Amino acid sequence: MVEPALTESKSKALFERAKKILPGGVNSPVRAFEPYPFFVECAQGSKMYDADGKAYVDYCMAYGALLLGHAYPEIIEAVKNQLAKGTLYGVPTEREVEFAELIQKSSPCMEMMRLVNSGTEATMHAIRAARGYTNRKKIIKFEGCFHGSHDAVLVKAGSGATTFAAPNSLGIPEETTQNTIVLPYNNIEALEATFKREGYHIAAVIVEPVLANVGLILPKKDYLKNLRKITSANGTVLIFDEIITGFRLALGGAQEYFNVKPDMATLGKVLGAGFPLAAFGGKREIMQNISPVGKVYQAGTFSGNPVSATAGFTILNILSQKKNQIYPKLQKNTEELTKGLIDLAASHKVPAQVYNIASLYQIFFTDKPISDYACAKNSDLQMFTAYFQELLRQGVFIPPSQFETCFLSTAHTEDNLKFTVNSFDKALAAASKTRHPQ
Ligand SMILES: Cc1ncc(COP(=O)(O)O)c(C=O)c1O
Repeated sequence: MVEPALTESKSKALFERAKKILPGGVNSPVRAFEPYPFFVECAQGSKMYDADGKAYVDYCMAYGALLLGHAYPEIIEAVKNQLAKGTLYGVPTEREVEFAELIQKSSPCMEMMRLVNSGTEATMHAIRAARGYTNRKKIIKFEGCFHGSHDAVLVKAGSGATTFAAPNSLGIPEETTQNTIVLPYNNIEALEATFKREGYHIAAVIVEPVLANVGLILPKKDYLKNLRKITSANGTVLIFDEIITGFRLALGGAQEYFNVKPDMATLGKVLGAGFPLAAFGGKREIMQNISPVGKVYQAGTFSGNPVSATAGFTILNILSQKKNQIYPKLQKNTEELTKGLIDLAASHKVPAQVYNIASLYQIFFTDKPISDYACAKNSDLQMFTAYFQELLRQGVFIPPSQFETCFLSTAHTEDNLKFTVNSFDKALAAASKTRHPQ
């Protein structure tokens, strides 16, 4: 039995109230955890403060959205200035154009794009654009990849869908997902066999280039390059869902990091700097089919709104100007943190696999390497819960599920990292007490 981290508190009372009006007491399932989530009062830099005044060093960073930490002054200032000029116009602004031009500079595959409000919208419309362009119905997604919560992709989906045992959601007619082929990630043979069988019916392959919604799983050597080759040979649109990897692995995301150019990409999270914003885009010949130029319909009242676009434009300018300092420093800090975690896991004799890339990391409690969804699901979840609860008690917040990834920001200080490694020590001790024989 894992001892919960929180006892009587204002958060508990708020959660009781919330449960009466919001399903599960939350507005997104990943926010619900046992015995109840803490309710945030405010946040600054690397830390969040709850309704009882307790501070947490934050490695969730709004599920990766906050690369520069909470309430980054330059972004807040730019948004304040925009607020005074209006929040929504329903007609275009210069800001949207200069912002899109800046995105295109860092993600050259996006010859044309559309701004939208969430990652879910971005992947939904990218798939529609790929189907419209190819005039084919089928798509391939991979087990454990999460592409948002729309019908076509909620099949063996990661993140909250796996955490809460609903990888295939109720409410989605099977006719809707019968054109979604689900394959294991990192398995090029399975992909080749599928393309051999029905390659010319497959409109798109959508993939998280690095799996970050079932813990963290890295692509095997040349996996993405082979994915590129096979899709090109079959006239299938390759979509990199870079909602997490975009602006995290590098300024140009996974496309730059692995030097593989997809036909389309989706961006979100970091791109909006804490505001609702995402984008989908790709080759001109595909995007020219979007309404009003072509017959693929896509629209949105809030799309490209000046507040989100200003936040996005500001962060992209910062990242473009300081990329040579920001990305190496984030990687160094992540390596330092994960080294601490690996060393402590060994000293507590805890079976552990720790993965990291750029500013992402995660631990799995198992002695077997993790290369796909099936392996991730076989790690010891009870140990993870004990580890999470003890970190929370210590004042370190990581995403509450094994099927998520931890994120560093530029706001994490050397002191934060030392404090966290100290907390890892206690959390791994707690985890080792619940150990299942494997
Ligand atoms: C890879 C990926 N794609 C899409 C989404 C959906 O994004 P949003 O939550 O903004 O709808 C997420 C969300 O976590 C994601 O991680």
